[in-house]
Amino acid sequence: MAYLTANTKRVTTTELIRMKAAGKRITMLTAYDTLMAGILDQAGIDVLLVGDSVSTVLAGEETTLTATLDQMIYHGRIARRGTSRALVVVDLPFLTYQVSIEDAIRNAGRVMQETGAGGVKLEGGENLAPTIRALVDVGIPVMGHLGFTPQSVHSLGGAKIQGKEASAADRLVSDAKAVEQAGAFAMVLELIPAAVAERVTKAVSIPTIGIGAGIHCDGQVLVTHDMLGLNEGFAPKFLKKYAELGKAMKEAAEQFAADVREGKYPGPEHSH
Ligand code: KIV
Repeated sequence: MAYLTANTKRVTTTELIRMKAAGKRITMLTAYDTLMAGILDQAGIDVLLVGDSVSTVLAGEETTLTATLDQMIYHGRIARRGTSRALVVVDLPFLTYQVSIEDAIRNAGRVMQETGAGGVKLEGGENLAPTIRALVDVGIPVMGHLGFTPQSVHSLGGAKIQGKEASAADRLVSDAKAVEQAGAFAMVLELIPAAVAERVTKAVSIPTIGIGAGIHCDGQVLVTHDMLGLNEGFAPKFLKKYAELGKAMKEAAEQFAADVREGKYPGPEHSH
């Protein structure tokens, strides 16, 4: 029996684990809509993360805490629609998995059922291990997220590097092992020193995907709008801008306005 359509060549969670074992680096970018997800899918990005960063990046909120389950489901569904190869992972938003395991299963289940995603991501270490185990046990693949965890920004006192002291670094390693043992297929490491990320990466057999965590992770993730230079004022040390689309868009809009004002657009070639 065919469980997937015949031409499906989607990246799977088990494929990512094999990539780590084979020393192949994993690429991950955020996507919140069909058009962007389609372009990134065609570019061969392995994993598309429908991050709760949609709240800050698209909706102009100060933190990711405002993202709701319905919003994540909406963005998950429209992003997945643009893809045919990438594994799509949707963030579980704040308070949809921390209150009880029952809530977590119901909410993650809705994400899987209503978006067609291949997995969910949640933030936390050893404290969340029973929740990760419960989700995995009902067939929901889970990606963990350690280091700076944006849903805890208020208690962490801002977007700060985590794991700088020896005890905090040890804690990251034990959290990573707990996340792996609970059955997660991968984990994001955000804003931690490169040497600590290297320790964590060596301590687990599931892939680590870093953002601001140095070169030793098994893969790298960036927020697409940031790496495209759409968010011109945002320039943290870890960010490499691969394009300056914010500047290009402004120039295009200025050119359009000038053409309209000067009666140059539409020309005969644009008229019926
Ligand atoms: O929400 C998000 O985009 C993320 C990435 C920064 C990893 O969690």
